[in-house]
Amino acid sequence: MRMEKLKGEKTFFAGVTCNNADMKLFLVSLVLFCSLVILIMQFLPSEITVSSSTTYNLSWPQSPPPNVSSAVRSWMKEELTSDYVVKRALNAVGSAAYLFIQMGAYRGGPNSFAVIGLASKPLHVFAKPRFICEWLPLTFHGDDNSSVTASGQTILPDWGYGRVYTVVVVNCTFSVDVGADGIGGCLVLRATTGGGSDRAAETEERFIAMEEAPGSVNVTMFSTPPKYDCLYCGSPLYGELSPQRVREWIAYHAKLFGLKSHFVIHDAGGVHRDVMEVLRPWMEKGLLTLQDVKEQERFDGYYHNQFLVLNDCLHRYKFMAKWIFVFDMDEFIYLPSETNLEPLLESFSGYTQFTIEQMPMSNTLCQFKDYGNTSRMWGIEKLVYRDARRKVRRDHKYAIQPRSASATGVHLSKNVAGPSLQETGGRIKYFHYHGTLAMRRDPCRELLNATKIFFDNTPYVLDETLRSVAGEVRMFELKMIGPRLAHARE
Ligand SMILES: *[C@@H]1O[C@H](CO)[C@@H](O)[C@H](O)[C@H]1NC(C)=O
Ligand SMILES: *[C@@H]1O[C@H](CO)[C@@H](O)[C@H](O)[C@H]1NC(C)=O
Ligand SMILES: *[C@@H]1O[C@H](CO)[C@@H](O)[C@H](O)[C@H]1NC(C)=O
Ligand SMILES: *[C@@H]1O[C@H](CO)[C@@H](O)[C@H](O)[C@H]1NC(C)=O
Ligand SMILES: *[C@@H]1O[C@H](CO)[C@@H](O)[C@H](O)[C@H]1NC(C)=O
Ligand SMILES: *[C@@H]1O[C@H](CO)[C@@H](O)[C@H](O)[C@H]1NC(C)=O
Ligand SMILES: *[C@@H]1O[C@H](CO)[C@@H](O)[C@H](O)[C@H]1NC(C)=O
Repeated sequence: MRMEKLKGEKTFFAGVTCNNADMKLFLVSLVLFCSLVILIMQFLPSEITVSSSTTYNLSWPQSPPPNVSSAVRSWMKEELTSDYVVKRALNAVGSAAYLFIQMGAYRGGPNSFAVIGLASKPLHVFAKPRFICEWLPLTFHGDDNSSVTASGQTILPDWGYGRVYTVVVVNCTFSVDVGADGIGGCLVLRATTGGGSDRAAETEERFIAMEEAPGSVNVTMFSTPPKYDCLYCGSPLYGELSPQRVREWIAYHAKLFGLKSHFVIHDAGGVHRDVMEVLRPWMEKGLLTLQDVKEQERFDGYYHNQFLVLNDCLHRYKFMAKWIFVFDMDEFIYLPSETNLEPLLESFSGYTQFTIEQMPMSNTLCQFKDYGNTSRMWGIEKLVYRDARRKVRRDHKYAIQPRSASATGVHLSKNVAGPSLQETGGRIKYFHYHGTLAMRRDPCRELLNATKIFFDNTPYVLDETLRSVAGEVRMFELKMIGPRLAHARE
């Protein structure tokens, strides 16, 4: 009977494909197919014993009181043993953290995939949860040998940071190419608890991580040169952002990176209406993509799930950009001795990643000569005092060639093939205007005449580097999108 059902399904699919029926119907069918296959696979022997919930009989006579949890998996009662020992029972209800929360799944080659998500942190600290990857071709019907299995390699890029959840990149690399012929199919992931939620039970969830429609994969994409030279992956934006600061940042970097680049911005609640107005002209030009990741706030990960979003961005755009830049929107990249990014990137092309040195700027000190004018000036024009402390360890940011990386971080990637350049000899830096992005007022608090000053026990020096290029950036913005942002507010 099972076979009959399967055969029926198979012909149905063949029919759909041959008749070239509309895509919508097809996709629905693909989902159905994958679900069906999963259903059938559950009856097949599996290497993992899924502990089935023991049937339990509730003790109340008629129906249970309303709204009691139905999640109790096995209900036990205390009992008196033959030695008169009271054997107590512990009964578990509900579940405290999800086993896995998937954000994205992407192909990394003809035989490789990355699935990016969050997983219960204590599970990964105290147990040995595993991931098993399966590839089921669209032609698969439950009992042939065409499915392939591989154990998923777990990468934990924000290990040590998360509280309830930790970021997991599952690298599924099969020993043979899968779906590389464009036949279509699905990637199924099996996530186990490794005894971490209950030592008596190794439970497993089996789910479709990714579906591939026939013809949607062309393996030449993995070796063709990328569309963009540079792609910016932004960390989740949250808080009351200043539209004017965002405006300056985009104009400045659009000019620096050039038109063969792209910006991916992640909104974790910071893109309110006025910020949206500032992004829109660049989105219309096709230079910027805005991703709404506000859903992530439901899950307690590190810093608005920064690592989750960055790893998703890395894998999502892996084959679209030669370099991916990771830094924040209150940071401005600067090349002290070059006017163009291209020769610099060319000379670093033998490295998988290189770091970018920080130049911290004051977020309150401005010049007396700008008195009365600061509200009309750009942040990079008026904030001109640089923190001149020496021998202070400072964070850096980085750029990476994504094709050689399997996971990434905020300051550097630890999962790369090939060499990393940790010291560029000051060839690329960034000016950091810490805290100005979410400050909705003129940041100038002190107006100074001096070129060197101690302020709050910190030495500052006048540094007008970015002020001197602001004029060109304003011109560039005008040329690209016209005067529509002229009245952006702080
Ligand atoms: C639960 O109750 C049913 C019917 O009352 C009975 O047949 C069954 O054996 C009970 N199961 C257990 C585990 O006690
Ligand atoms: C049970 O849950 C429903 C819906 O969540 C709620 O409307 C109802 O008041 C609850 N009943 C009790 C007894 O708590
Ligand atoms: C998975 O890991 C292998 C080995 O490190 C790597 O070559 C491959 O690119 C990775 N796949 C993805 C999708 O990151
Ligand atoms: C799969 O099955 C086919 C025939 O059904 C057989 O020719 C082939 O060798 C099998 N492949 C493997 C890897 O067992
Ligand atoms: C894959 O893409 C390449 C170039 O982009 C093209 O020449 C080739 O015909 C494509 N193959 C298929 C099967 O579509
Ligand atoms: C300040 O603004 C006024 C009026 O726009 C202008 O005349 C003056 O030159 C400006 N001062 C400086 C220091 O830029
Ligand atoms: C800066 O100089 C102007 C005139 O040269 C003076 O009025 C002002 O008080 C000075 N400000 C500070 C903070 O020294």
